[in-house]
Amino acid sequence: MLMFASSAPGRYNGRTMNLVYATPPEALEKYRGALDAAIKALAPPEPRGLYDMLRYHLGWADQAGQEVEGGSTGKALRPTLCFLTAEALGCPWPRAVTAAAALELVHNFSLIHDDIQDGDTERRGRPTVWSLWGVGPALWAGNAMRVLSDRALTSDGLPSAKGRQAARLLTQAYLEIIEGQYLDLEFERRTDIGVASYLDMISRKTGALIRCAVELGALVATDDSEATAALCAWGSHLGQAFQVRDDILGIWGNPALTGKPVGNDIRRKKKTFPVIHGFQHATGAALAALKAAYGPLAAGEEQVEEVLGALEETGAYREAQSLVERETGQAIEALGGVKTPLSPTAREQMVQLTTFLAHRDR
Ligand code: IPE
Ligand code: IPE
Ligand code: MG
Ligand code: MG
Repeated sequence: MLMFASSAPGRYNGRTMNLVYATPPEALEKYRGALDAAIKALAPPEPRGLYDMLRYHLGWADQAGQEVEGGSTGKALRPTLCFLTAEALGCPWPRAVTAAAALELVHNFSLIHDDIQDGDTERRGRPTVWSLWGVGPALWAGNAMRVLSDRALTSDGLPSAKGRQAARLLTQAYLEIIEGQYLDLEFERRTDIGVASYLDMISRKTGALIRCAVELGALVATDDSEATAALCAWGSHLGQAFQVRDDILGIWGNPALTGKPVGNDIRRKKKTFPVIHGFQHATGAALAALKAAYGPLAAGEEQVEEVLGALEETGAYREAQSLVERETGQAIEALGGVKTPLSPTAREQMVQLTTFLAHRDR
């Protein structure tokens, strides 16, 4: 376990922001029942072992396949964005349920594979699928999630042109996830990554699906391409903010809240935003420490501590959080740019959700 000084910026931030943002917006809970029911209906019963891995990952079963109540689930952000967008455009939200389920399945496919590539043994406070069942079965579990998602969209009750368009958009998004994840791995071996390359990589690995969630919600609800484009701009900025905040939580987060190990991004030599900032602004001993930790040899615990020191010295936390807040501001501005009238309640929820995510602890 890493040690953090009590002045660690994450904690300071947590203390000052909790009063305002501690309560998750109700949108994150509102659609969950319908979403879970839709995903449950998509998973075949056999072969049991394969689908038990999916049910385990989704927090519905323990590792022996026994059903669990109130298990460890994700935030369901992407389905929420899809439902909320449809609702904001005046469409009854249940019409977006298949698209929402497909999005959550693709997201979870990417997480199962992400934990393999990142060597992470914990997610959502529980052992990861690959760490319990092995890499081979976990690869198939992830692929099964993705295919169930494809099948759901292509057999949906949407008018056929919209159904085809939805499938095309989701396929494009998960191709971008794959591209981003490939770059994320390639960047582990490099120390010359600049901010522009980083932003491009995260807009693929994380941004693509968040943007797609908004676009699918709009597709279900409307043919208004201008409103769709403006809402997608909201999704794009939200996606960037979301990943930079994820980078922060990977270094300064509280594992009891994130459910993920802290410090692994440093051990894996991930070129997260704080690290790129550190490389660009460190001098002397701090720069030497970064070069050693991100060189070809494995980084030990002492080096992880040195990286934390170098990041603190260069104000990496502050810089990363101000990028999160800049992107969040642009996201809210993009919402303001939607000319088509939106449902005021849904619009308010969109703003609340966007603001909440900039300071999230999990
Ligand atoms: C984690 O996504 C992976 C990223 C794209 C940063 P989430 O933080 O949305 O994961 P869950 O589904 O809530 O666990
Ligand atoms: C986020 O990967 C992108 C995907 C999962 C596709 P990360 O590796 O940054 O996310 P966490 O922190 O493990 O959830
Ligand atoms: Mg990763
Ligand atoms: Mg990861």
